[in-house]
Amino acid sequence: MTTRQIWQLESRPEGNDFVSAIRLVEEQIPPLADGEVLVKNIYLSMDAGTRMWMTAREDGYNPPLPLGSPITGLTMGYVAASNAAGFAEGDLVRGFGQWSDQSVVHAELGGLFKLDDSVEDIRQHFGVLGMNGWTALWGLIETAKIQPGENVLVSAAAGSTGMLACQIAKILGCNVYGLAGGAEKCRWLEDEIGITKAIDYKTADIGAELGQIQDGINAYFDNVAGPILDAVLPNMALYGRIALCGLMAQYSGDGRARGPEHFDQILMKRLSVIGFFSPDFMDQGERLTAQLKTWLDDSKLQMPFDVTEGLENTLDAYERLFTGANIGKVLVKL
Ligand SMILES: NC(=O)c1ccc[n+]([C@@H]2O[C@H](COP(=O)([O-])OP(=O)(O)OC[C@H]3O[C@@H](n4cnc5c(N)ncnc54)[C@H](OP(=O)(O)O)[C@@H]3O)[C@@H](O)[C@H]2O)c1
Repeated sequence: MTTRQIWQLESRPEGNDFVSAIRLVEEQIPPLADGEVLVKNIYLSMDAGTRMWMTAREDGYNPPLPLGSPITGLTMGYVAASNAAGFAEGDLVRGFGQWSDQSVVHAELGGLFKLDDSVEDIRQHFGVLGMNGWTALWGLIETAKIQPGENVLVSAAAGSTGMLACQIAKILGCNVYGLAGGAEKCRWLEDEIGITKAIDYKTADIGAELGQIQDGINAYFDNVAGPILDAVLPNMALYGRIALCGLMAQYSGDGRARGPEHFDQILMKRLSVIGFFSPDFMDQGERLTAQLKTWLDDSKLQMPFDVTEGLENTLDAYERLFTGANIGKVLVKL
């Protein structure tokens, strides 16, 4: 096939209105340059952070996607043609491709990664063994430096990154508290994952609930920021650490918000607040995957998948991250 279907950014989305801003078009597949690989995609990973690239902000962690360009995202599939050393037709790979049935990926710049196709469920390369797993593990150990017996709080706890953070903190001997939207998610976190307590941030008085945690929160894995962070800060323990992973509360606006209320608590409690971002630990992927695989094989980690079928339904799948419709990893199956 010489053409492909591809999602293209036509305008900057307002809120969660992706349909008005992103269009599915057909185009010729560009010829492969040196170092590039053509991947026939089988799964697209829906990642909340992609929302930031759709805005015009110049000081984000990636430059904004120019209007008219394809939507970039993590994809998984089989190599259809290769101009890159180390990749051959038929290899199962994951990398930063395009929301399309076929991705052109530069092996080095697109972080192309050859995958083990013998794992029981290859979707785990986007779940436990993928970027969300790496992020959860790195954020807890290297950034928040959690210790056994500590109180660890996770926001967006029933989402892909958050639920892995909850499970890993539990494996590492912590008391785990999760914030999630809705009774079903909270029940699931307590019953299926076995965390100490889940708090429904949409209905609970979060500050009062967090105030019940004996000795305060030692480490906060924050996927959200915004008003939830405002409620967390006064409930941190002395010398607590906040690993700032993401900004769910801000992505659908212009990505900016006022600073946290209770900023003073950072001084009063001698807190550390550290942002961390996956490109900084991409070179550690093999080590992180090996650790996560051990826990997956021992059934200590699980990941439910929220799968939408068909490239044409990608925007419906993407919206689920922002309406909170998902438990676990949101994928599009092609
Ligand atoms: N730093 C890094 O390298 C890195 C890497 C990967 C992901 N991340 C970050 O991790 C976070 C989660 O991303 P993900 O892709 O794994 O998505 P996800 O957690 O699977 O889905 C997003 C979840 O966020 C919650 N949410 C949506 N809007 C919210 C709001 N206004 N306030 C509070 N919660 C809200 C929703 O759950 P509820 O029903 O609970 O609201 C939703 O399920 C994002 O902030 C992302 O940028 C960072």
